[in-house]
Amino acid sequence: MKQTISLFSIFAAMLIACSVQQDSASEVEKIMTEYKTWVRLTPEPRNISPHLWGLCRLPTPEEQAFLESQHANRYLNIYANNIGAEVAKGEGERIFPDGSAIVKEKLLTLEGNSAEAVAMMIKRGKGFNPAGDDWEYVYWEKNGKLTRGPQQLENCQSCHLNTRETDSVFWPEGLKP
Ligand code: HEC
Repeated sequence: MKQTISLFSIFAAMLIACSVQQDSASEVEKIMTEYKTWVRLTPEPRNISPHLWGLCRLPTPEEQAFLESQHANRYLNIYANNIGAEVAKGEGERIFPDGSAIVKEKLLTLEGNSAEAVAMMIKRGKGFNPAGDDWEYVYWEKNGKLTRGPQQLENCQSCHLNTRETDSVFWPEGLKP
């Protein structure tokens, strides 16, 4: 009986894990179709160096070398959903409530409207990721590749925690020297 129960609980846990994964996959799709209707925090696309553009991802050594060799500029926009935008634009303390979502849209040029990549921060419930103040970090690329999970999280949040006093959100500042 005991074995049946534990097998059952493993099965149930697997089911839950799958549905969470699926839910969050469709949530990312939803974000991708919606984010341009969110509050845009950057009045104009922000012109940044290829180096800064290259952040918010895990670059391969080749890509890193490529990015560093480019002299052209890159652009980004930052959007927040209503919950997130209220805090980001507000004067009060920067603590983003659960459900806040902020995306950084990376553009190669000012022409066209299609994102090369979109980096996302989604504030989950308490306990989701205590070391990172419960943010989830997700990285979407134009080819449909989605990066998330512990390694990604660690990379993203190791840098974003530099601005922990503003709840890991850099906007409107960039990285302080
Ligand atoms: C080495 C530092 C660094 C790493 C690593 C990094 N970011 Fe960022 N991120 C920044 C900086 C700096 C900004 C602000 C850019 C600006 O406004 O010019 C930013 C902005 C953002 C924003 C917009 C909200 C904000 O904080 O202003 C999101 C969303 C984001 N990053 C997601 C990610 C994700 C997802 C990852 C991992 C895949 C990641 N970042 C990894 C430095 C980093």
